[in-house]
This record gives sequence, structure tokens and C-alpha cells, in this order.
Amino acid sequence: MSKNILVAYATRTRSTAEIAKAISETLAENGSQVEVRPVQDVTDLEKYQAIVLGSTIHDKKWLPEAMQFVRENQVALSEKPFAAFLVCMALTMKNQNYHRMAVEWLEPVRRLVKPVSEGFFAGALDIEKVSSVWHQSMFRISVWTGVWAEGDHRNWEAIRAWATDLSDKLQVD
Ligand SMILES: Cc1cc2nc3c(=O)[nH]c(=O)nc-3n(C[C@H](O)[C@H](O)[C@H](O)COP(=O)(O)O)c2cc1C
Repeated sequence: MSKNILVAYATRTRSTAEIAKAISETLAENGSQVEVRPVQDVTDLEKYQAIVLGSTIHDKKWLPEAMQFVRENQVALSEKPFAAFLVCMALTMKNQNYHRMAVEWLEPVRRLVKPVSEGFFAGALDIEKVSSVWHQSMFRISVWTGVWAEGDHRNWEAIRAWATDLSDKLQVD
């Protein structure tokens, strides 16, 4: 059966939106009908057989609109295959402790709905695009001290590999 899958996302500077698009393209190549939407534009989950939701991480958390969506749709999401992903800069760091921390950032989501699959992706940092001056300063310090490097760290191969694996996990009867 051809599935209708929603890939929803929460973003501020588009890197997560582009990852959501890549995921949707891979799912479509594997035979599903896929809609990709900003999470705040999703009104009706009835028409989807499976849902993928991803958010950028700000201050160690999914963006508020993504968490709100999970809270408001907890029952509906629990009744369908649901996959979650996050996008952040900690995953660009060599120290694996930061990768383990990033895995914990999905815990508030897991407490509400258990995903059939979880994706963890390095993102992109363009300090000029960051809206808060305080965060801009913090990121400049992080870059100067070598914690993070500005630029696009997205690994498209890893993103597409996760989406390919997801096609099976989102199967519905
Ligand atoms: C205000 C702000 C806070 C952030 N906080 C974190 C964080 O706590 N941990 C982290 O690893 N990355 C953090 N990041 C980096 C973003 O997750 C990363 O740049 C991401 O790719 C941006 O996604 P977007 O382009 O979809 O908005 C933060 C970025 C911003 C702008």
C-alpha cells in the first residue's frame, strides 16, 4: 500500500527545513507519497499514515513549536508510526560525550511518544543569521575558542541513509 507520510519540521535558519526536504525526497523515492511542512502549518493528521518530525536544537531543546505539536497530538502520534530527528552543532564535535548529550535532548519527546526511529544530524551555523545578539556573541566566542566551526556540517549521505532505513520502519499494515 502506498503510504501518505508527513515530514514536519521546526527551524530558524532553514538547515533543518532542507534536511526535512532531503528526508522526504528519499521516502518518495522509496514509494511513499510525502508532504513536507513547517510544523506550525500542520492542522490535520488524519490523512497521514506515518509522521516524521524534526527540529533544530536551541539551548539543548527542540524548538517550542515542535514540542507543542507533540504535546497537542500525543494520542494521534502514538497511534501511527512516528519518527523524530534533531539537528544541532554538538554533533559536529569530536568528543563523543557531546554526541551522547545530544541523544538525551530527545528525551522530552520520548516521554510523550516513543519514536520508531531517531535521527541525529549535525547542522549548520551562520552567525550572521542568528537573530539574538547574545547568542551571536556566544557563538563568536565558541568559534574563537575552537568549540565549533562556522559553516555547513550537514552529512547528506547520513541523512539519506537514515531516511532509507526509515521507509521500512514507517510501514503500516
Ligand atoms: C539560539 C541558538 C541556540 C542553539 N543552541 C544549541 C545547543 O544548545 N546545542 C547545539 O548543539 N546546537 C545549538 N545551536 C545550533 C543549531 O542547532 C544549529 O545551528 C542548527 O543547524 C540550526 O538549525 P536551523 O538552521 O534549522 O535553524 C543553537 C543555535 C542557535 C541559533
